[in-house]
Amino acid sequence: MKNLYKTATPMKIWLVGASQGIGLELIKIWLEQGHSVIASARAAETSPELADLSKRYAGLKCLNLDVTDPQDTAVKADQAWSMFKGIDLWFYNVGAYQPMKIEQWQWQDFVKMNQANYLGAVALMLALQPHFAKQGRGRWIWNISLASYFGLPYGGGYSAPKAALLNLAESLQPELAQQSIALQVINHGFVKTRLTAKNDFEMPGLVEPPQAARLIDKGLQSKSFEIRFPFGLRFFLSMLKLMPYSWALSLTRKMLKPN
Ligand SMILES: NC(=O)c1ccc[n+]([C@@H]2O[C@H](COP(=O)([O-])OP(=O)(O)OC[C@H]3O[C@@H](n4cnc5c(N)ncnc54)[C@H](OP(=O)(O)O)[C@@H]3O)[C@@H](O)[C@H]2O)c1
Repeated sequence: MKNLYKTATPMKIWLVGASQGIGLELIKIWLEQGHSVIASARAAETSPELADLSKRYAGLKCLNLDVTDPQDTAVKADQAWSMFKGIDLWFYNVGAYQPMKIEQWQWQDFVKMNQANYLGAVALMLALQPHFAKQGRGRWIWNISLASYFGLPYGGGYSAPKAALLNLAESLQPELAQQSIALQVINHGFVKTRLTAKNDFEMPGLVEPPQAARLIDKGLQSKSFEIRFPFGLRFFLSMLKLMPYSWALSLTRKMLKPN
């Protein structure tokens, strides 16, 4: 079998979910390393931060994309593919998060999180897989979350589609490897972005986006299926998964807020 992780240097990267937070910091790292990057988000082409980077780096191109629209996603995938004549690494970084108590449940919030955290990746992979198969190599990286390990109170609308994406990745990895496409997932903990600004609890191991981006970039040197950090939160959530449900749920019950 080919070395799935050996890609051209510099690489041609498509990062979807690039306008702010972790994605924007990854773009900065990769441009500095000399890679060519297509940055996508709903308004990537008018983002002041990306426009500023475009002035400094010729290797940056911006492409608007809303992953909730599967037809537009297919068109944009073809467009992205032809921008640098192929893609070495596709990074799916889109995420939406809305913590909700039962009294706050809204159908539209569930739809939004399913589209951003799961179906958007599916729409893109359907459009991209034939290109990668024809090219005969490539890497796919999906930024999921340690939240995919175990459902926690109020966070299920976010973590359920993340768990679905992890399960899909596990299922697809062997078949994609047969086509010389390496699929890896990133499960990390809390990062200070607009997503976690919605949390009103103390977040253990919280890091700033530049640090998270550096850890992700370093992790990508590994061939492991899963790149994960930080150790403490991962250990705690892994233990919840391993212990009997009666124990795990009695622990997560302690996270409930008073009514
Ligand atoms: N922050 C954390 O603690 C944490 C922890 C674990 C995992 N993660 C995951 O890490 C990834 C990045 O999170 P972040 O915290 O950096 O979030 P963020 O700052 O909100 O960035 C999310 C990115 O996705 C884009 N996006 C959102 N909806 C989109 C859509 N429908 N179509 C296209 N692009 C869309 C956003 O751009 P526009 O809104 O401009 O379109 C933005 O560029 C997410 O997958 C998240 O679930 C985050």
